[in-house]
Amino acid sequence: MLIRYKKSFEKIAMGLLSFMPEVSDVKMLQDIIREYEENADWHLLLWKEEDILGAIGVRIEDHEAVIQHVSVNPSHRNLGIGKRMILSVQEQYQANFHICASEATESFVSKCELERPSSQV
Ligand SMILES: CC(C)(COP(=O)(O)OP(=O)(O)OC[C@H]1O[C@@H](n2cnc3c(N)ncnc32)[C@H](O)[C@@H]1OP(=O)(O)O)[C@@H](O)C(=O)NCCC(=O)NCCS
Repeated sequence: MLIRYKKSFEKIAMGLLSFMPEVSDVKMLQDIIREYEENADWHLLLWKEEDILGAIGVRIEDHEAVIQHVSVNPSHRNLGIGKRMILSVQEQYQANFHICASEATESFVSKCELERPSSQV
């Protein structure tokens, strides 16, 4: 299930966000985490089973919820966690926001949407 980020998850969240291709160094990672902690329009959610296995970050811009980060622990990839995170965010935000992807997440978000059962589209 998706849970909200809190400071005690900082290290695991930074580890997950470091897999985003555009995250080039530790300073950038620290700036991203700080923005999620301080900016009320940046929401970081973590996928928790027994452990925390994934992270998904959303930026609110007017009526849009932009999925700007999505990352899964490499040992748990290709098991559907990434897709479940995208679908859970869509469920949580779709009543109030138009959901879209950033350039960084576009290819995976489009893949998940294409695979949605037609009854949910
Ligand atoms: C992208 C990511 C979150 C997917 O997580 P996951 O839990 O493995 O995803 P799922 O198991 O739900 O789906 C796996 C499918 O997504 C595909 N996929 C993986 N990365 C992808 C990408 N960047 N763009 C499109 N599809 C991608 C896999 O090839 C697999 O396809 P298949 O089902 O046809 O074999 C994970 O690979 C990751 O953390 N990557 C590093 C961070 C990253 O690049 N994030 C931005 C992605 S655009």
